[in-house]
Amino acid sequence: MAKSSLNLQSTVALNNEVQMPREGLGVWKANLHQASDAVKDAIVDGYRLIDTAKQYGNEAGVGNGIKEGLEAAGLKREDLFITTKVFNGDQGYDSTLANFQGSLDRLGLDYLDLYLIHWPVDNKYIETWRALEKLYADGKVRSIGVSNFDVETMDDLLQHANVTPAVNQIEFNPLIQQEEMREYADKINMQIEAWSPLGGGEALSNQTILDIAKKYNKSAAQIILRWDLQSNVITIPKSVHDNRIKQNADIYDFELSSDDISAINALNKNQPSLVYDDFAWHTPHKKNAYVDEVDIWPDTNDFNEK
Ligand code: A2P
Repeated sequence: MAKSSLNLQSTVALNNEVQMPREGLGVWKANLHQASDAVKDAIVDGYRLIDTAKQYGNEAGVGNGIKEGLEAAGLKREDLFITTKVFNGDQGYDSTLANFQGSLDRLGLDYLDLYLIHWPVDNKYIETWRALEKLYADGKVRSIGVSNFDVETMDDLLQHANVTPAVNQIEFNPLIQQEEMREYADKINMQIEAWSPLGGGEALSNQTILDIAKKYNKSAAQIILRWDLQSNVITIPKSVHDNRIKQNADIYDFELSSDDISAINALNKNQPSLVYDDFAWHTPHKKNAYVDEVDIWPDTNDFNEK
């Protein structure tokens, strides 16, 4: 198998020339302590991109993990790329500005690398974007972007935006390939980033993926994540287990052939997942659907209080 020229710290230039790692750690559904341990492990394992959100209720845990990870790995803050997202319930201009500092405080940081609008909350996201543009102009964030925006909301945002979003983080995996948004993103030079790249388990047990995995002597997760890289999609697999965090980063010693890439491309069903209905999250196609309460665990400002 061809050896890859990429590695875990390879970056891609965003539309403002900021370099963003191509692979990172996601922490949705990790509680404070799981998030802290996973982030520390990931940094020590060589990850440089960490993705969280106020909505996940674990920013303080992520902050603790960043602190411990930097110490353990002998790295500096600038070596990392940290993303968090505006909580749906905080959207609007003043409210976003007021609540941004809370995320920074919980994370123990004085700037962010990427700040995203978590969901396109109706009648709010234009004002929220104005607040992100202000934070960007003030140097509080190195880049700004969106998440879960479809073509319609993107068109609307661009009509009002002074800064083109650097990133749109969307649900993306072999069964949900979001071709329309990827083509759109190419046209406006916006980077696509995958949330839930492993597809909630369904993609991991797909027979085509398993057959390809066998051929390369890799796991199904590794095949999917390698396909993300070769599809130019930034990927942030979530795991709270260090063996999986390591495994998910061990995708740089092989390259998928164009035939295998085509076989995975053919798996697309393009039906955004509804598995998040338990938490009242919906697909981007269902307007007005978002939650305005912090996810799963109550957020806290102080990791040590929990
Ligand atoms: P866990 O955190 O217990 O390791 P996604 O990022 O696509 O949402 O996927 C996350 C889910 O996949 C989590 O349930 C995570 O479980 C699991 N997972 C992460 N890495 C692997 C892996 N290498 N093999 C199997 N399951 C994985």
